[in-house]
Amino acid sequence: MKARAKAPARVNLLGGHTDYNGGFVLPSVLPYYTVVEAEPREGVSAYSDAFAEERVYQQRAPDGSWLDYLVGVVWALAQAGYQIPGAHFNVSGNVPLGVGLSSSAALQVAALRALRWLYRLPIDDLEIAMLAQRAEAEYVGVRCGVMDQMASSLAKAGEALFIDTRSLSFRRLRLFEGARIVVVDSARPRRLAESGYNQRRAECAEAARLLGAELLREVAEPADLALLPEPYRRRARHVISENVRVIKALRALEAADADEFGRLMLASHRSLKQDFEVSTPELDRLVELALAAGAYGARLTGAGFGGAIVALVPEKGLELFYGEVSRGYPEARFY
Ligand code: GLA
Repeated sequence: MKARAKAPARVNLLGGHTDYNGGFVLPSVLPYYTVVEAEPREGVSAYSDAFAEERVYQQRAPDGSWLDYLVGVVWALAQAGYQIPGAHFNVSGNVPLGVGLSSSAALQVAALRALRWLYRLPIDDLEIAMLAQRAEAEYVGVRCGVMDQMASSLAKAGEALFIDTRSLSFRRLRLFEGARIVVVDSARPRRLAESGYNQRRAECAEAARLLGAELLREVAEPADLALLPEPYRRRARHVISENVRVIKALRALEAADADEFGRLMLASHRSLKQDFEVSTPELDRLVELALAAGAYGARLTGAGFGGAIVALVPEKGLELFYGEVSRGYPEARFY
């Protein structure tokens, strides 16, 4: 018996660095998938097409390899009371690695879907996202919010997924007719991504504490920010203004107003650059080029510190967009 499942790459359209502050996010998915086949087996072993290697779980702790993500989901299932013997996995697909499209979430969600089928587990798609997030945060040891796993498990191509990361409620909205989501990779490795990410998390937690709140989500009054020393004031200003932008973006989607959505993306990028300080000169350059090449808007996507931007581009202008951006930034890769 063999189960086969897939899960898509996620891209965040708006709501950068808000998910660990209990805020709002608006991701979508791209037509790139990780495919996982699973067969019942004692213990965990796997073959990865991308790495062209077979790995067998032997030791009692994570070993820092891609196999950790698969051991992690089996571990998370056991933590949640679903003891399974294990599985042999075969991993393939075309989600680009290291670009910021959350190949790890796609791998974990696809593996959990395959295990759900194989062992007839009574878990729904939201639970799959939570198990995947727990595996990544507690087993693999990468502190992340809930956005990536929820997007990969719950979003559908052609739709945006609005998530309230505090209540975990979500809503699907149709994306714009006649416009395309394009990811442009800067082809620069993400530097300091993990330490920078953890530092921003700590700064946000401290800003909330100084304001007497548990989460920055609860702080609505811009006037409160005047009390904060730097850099906490800037960090909090980003998170609070970004939450407002996500809500405005919902209205823009409902009104089919791609121009307004694009303006919000650009405002998000500026805030991530100036107040949150997670951009790089390459990402700033790509955003500028994207706008000059006819995009409605563009912003860095994912954690920042390198990686990629996302742009909303009129379908009719796609060829021109690819040509112009490539001319200005020859290493650019498009997804
Ligand atoms: C990374 C994390 C997400 C989110 C983004 C920033 O992609 O995995 O949970 O925090 O950064 O928006």
